[in-house]
Amino acid sequence: MEQRSQWGTRVGFLLAAMGSAIGLGNIWRFPATAYESGGGAFFLPYLFALLTAGIPLLVMEYTIGHKYRSSSPRSFAKISKGMEWIGWWQVLISFVISTYYPIIISWAIMYAYFSIGTKWGDDSVAFFTGDYLNLADPGNFGSMVPSVFIPLLLVWMVAFIFLGRGIKRGIELANRIFIPTLMIVFIIIVIRALTLPGALEGLNAFFQPDWSQVFKGEVWVAAYGQIFFSLSIAFAIMITYSSYLPKKSDITNNAFITGFANSSFELLAGIGVFATIGFMASQTGQAVSEAYSGGGVALAFMVFPDIISQMPAAGFFGFLFFAALVLAGLSSMISISETYISALQEKFSISRKTAVLVGGGLAFIVSLFYANQGGLNLLDTVDHFINNYGVALAGLFEVVAIAWFARLLKDLQGHANSVSDIKLAWWWRACLGFLTPIVLGYMMLDNLRTELK
Ligand code: PHE
Ligand code: NA
Repeated sequence: MEQRSQWGTRVGFLLAAMGSAIGLGNIWRFPATAYESGGGAFFLPYLFALLTAGIPLLVMEYTIGHKYRSSSPRSFAKISKGMEWIGWWQVLISFVISTYYPIIISWAIMYAYFSIGTKWGDDSVAFFTGDYLNLADPGNFGSMVPSVFIPLLLVWMVAFIFLGRGIKRGIELANRIFIPTLMIVFIIIVIRALTLPGALEGLNAFFQPDWSQVFKGEVWVAAYGQIFFSLSIAFAIMITYSSYLPKKSDITNNAFITGFANSSFELLAGIGVFATIGFMASQTGQAVSEAYSGGGVALAFMVFPDIISQMPAAGFFGFLFFAALVLAGLSSMISISETYISALQEKFSISRKTAVLVGGGLAFIVSLFYANQGGLNLLDTVDHFINNYGVALAGLFEVVAIAWFARLLKDLQGHANSVSDIKLAWWWRACLGFLTPIVLGYMMLDNLRTELK
């Protein structure tokens, strides 16, 4: 039997796990979620979710990967033959995400290029939907070839190359390049943002606590949702990545580091984004709450270009901002794709290269279909279902199966404690066996209720 590939160093694994965790969710999802869910008061449910669900689940997934040394489907199969489908469900969700995530990275690549000379002009909304994506023209497939397909091809090429080279010489290398670069770029951006006029008002608005929010169920759901998405939990990713850990690895410690690094980056992004929005508000004479218009695609590709245009050295900072999106996005995308590559490799006993070609190739072809107007609407819908149901369900299946059907928590605790300095105890099992399943169940119901309203 061929020996399982391994990370070259502990730092290599940590960088890869952070690379997966740190993504678009940190940069454009967290600031908006926190601001809309109580500002400074959001940190209470958020920290609670991190400590009682995020890190405990991360420990559990690292332990499963480390103990069974397999992709997610095979790890679950080793636990019990009847649980293999849980792994495939997670892999399927990751596959779906990997078909649209690269589209957004492609836009960011083009916008890094547009930054030079602020090519979006002075109507950045019209530029994005009209000049760039040409959404008004339903038959626009042809017009997107240079603007979307070429960067998309580039994104997939980078992913194929690093994934094809394997764990140490591929994924680890990619993250060794991307993550430190991302940190440097991001710190420059945040310092720039903090020194803009109006930055302080932006921060005040962001941190201003609205304590009444803390009593709302949906705010807690938002906090848990953010933690799950942001830490890449229940996507098969962390099980897969930890299956390449050497035998001697402090699992629990690694989980704490990953969790806190991801949250620190998130906080930094919130500060950067709101300092920038404060600057915009001060330019237009609005209050920050009036200048704010949400997160996501609109924030990155419609609001930010406008703000960047008003900064000195706009081209330079625009380039850095979109480069940060590209770097954060690529490392996450590599991690999502690795889930089905490792699963295919094991299931069909094929080589890594074949698995990359088959799995990645299929995702690549599907990704082409999102690049026109109908596709973009579809992207929204798919993203909504994945985030509101797919992941919560995957997490729920996972904890219930492990805690209640396999009754495996004690075993896993022993396994983690045998290699870790931080010792898990009953509180870890209580979080996973009781608290998390209840919250995930409530989350599903709450999402359904909002849907039907
Ligand atoms: N954790 C990533 C982020 O915060 C998002 C992600 C989710 C990446 C699932 C891969 C898989 O942006
Ligand atoms: Na994240």
